[in-house]
Amino acid sequence: MAQEDQSRHGMWSSRLLFILAAAGSAVGLGNIWKFPYIVGENGGGAFVVVYLVCIFLIGVPIMMAEVLMGRHGRQSPINTMRLLVKESNARPFWIMIGWMGVLAGFLILSYYAVIAGWAFYYIFQLASGLFEGADGAFATETFNTFLADPWLMLFWQTLFMALTVFIVSRGVSRGLEAAIKWFMPLLFILMVAVVGYSMIWGDFAAGLSFLFSFDVSALSVDGVLIAMGQAFFTLSLGMGAIMAYGAYVPMNTSVTQTVITIALLDTGVALAAGLAIFPIVFASPGLEPGQGPGLMFVTIPLALGNLPFGAIVGAIFFALVSFAAITSAISLTEPALAYLVEEYNAKRERVAISLGVICWVLGIGTVLSFNVWADFHIVGEKTFFDFVDYVSQNIMLPLGGLLIALCAGWVLPKALVKAQLKLPAGVEPVWSVLIKFVAPAGVLAVFVYTLFGNVVA
Ligand code: TRP
Repeated sequence: MAQEDQSRHGMWSSRLLFILAAAGSAVGLGNIWKFPYIVGENGGGAFVVVYLVCIFLIGVPIMMAEVLMGRHGRQSPINTMRLLVKESNARPFWIMIGWMGVLAGFLILSYYAVIAGWAFYYIFQLASGLFEGADGAFATETFNTFLADPWLMLFWQTLFMALTVFIVSRGVSRGLEAAIKWFMPLLFILMVAVVGYSMIWGDFAAGLSFLFSFDVSALSVDGVLIAMGQAFFTLSLGMGAIMAYGAYVPMNTSVTQTVITIALLDTGVALAAGLAIFPIVFASPGLEPGQGPGLMFVTIPLALGNLPFGAIVGAIFFALVSFAAITSAISLTEPALAYLVEEYNAKRERVAISLGVICWVLGIGTVLSFNVWADFHIVGEKTFFDFVDYVSQNIMLPLGGLLIALCAGWVLPKALVKAQLKLPAGVEPVWSVLIKFVAPAGVLAVFVYTLFGNVVA
């Protein structure tokens, strides 16, 4: 078996930088913006439990699979899958993992850029002192006024896409590695600070009990699917982003340890975001946990607007959210980008710009979903944004993850997997059971449960 030691796209300079880069991909809008609002929409504690189970029993093994497959192939996910299929004498069917991932990446990035644009805009809104002494009604109205303005939203989405394309075109390991080193600790410190503020000013007990009290009756059938989709989304799994990053991991790095570290960091940030936001919600008349995508954009300005130095701390908070979004957006483009570079020997810059333009155009649909097209429903109650979000996150990512688990567990030669993971003899069976049975069965069970549940409901 040919084992390349280098990737033509570059390598992470150390184990730590891989952890930071993968954590940079994992920690993003999914943790700070999305996690709190879907917990809010799905009733709290029971949802969180399902989510945590999905992270550790399904997410962690699948992330290990992505890293090991990428590191063996040392190429874009599509070409890595081609190589793996050849070396395993498997059907070309499995290459679909690579193609579906590219498509999912486009869909996700298209709306990701729009929401990240909101965070950009809020850096300046906070810095201007607009929210000093604001109440819940004012914060809500400010946000709704912004949503009603497609041109303003388009402006910030464009800026975010342009910045992403710029960074991506320079190569991932260069500017990115340097930036991530100070960004991750800074984000962590600031999250702790906001949680601390929430503890003092918000209704911390109510927030805590909402996040952690186990009330199964509050959980809907769809909620289970959404929790699983979120687990994939927040860990950047199921579309090859981590496989692409895995291609740049040095051989002397332990896959298991790094993956567990990444999962813990990611979960920590999501829970901290919940602990920051919900106490504020319960302490503010007029705010409710289930208010949807605007949750972070209403609660954080409201809380910080009433705090000494709130304007500047708030601006820094949204700057960090924007930065977290960029380090994630970059990983969304990497599978398609690396593939096109390999296939056509194209320049990274050119490919980055083309990909950026496609995502930008798709993203306009999301921009309009909040205003001009707000009443245009693709299926049921779903706007264009809801639809793209639902299909990519709740269907494509779990499906991709399922195929990755099956491929790693049943298709790849045992020796190949062993050489990558180097697990101690006692741990090996645990991994085998998780990747062969638990992870695939988990994804399937949730799919079936949702289909069946929706029919019954
Ligand atoms: N994990 C990121 C977040 O939580 C988003 C993201 C980056 C992603 N790369 C991905 C999601 C790949 C799915 C697949 O915000």
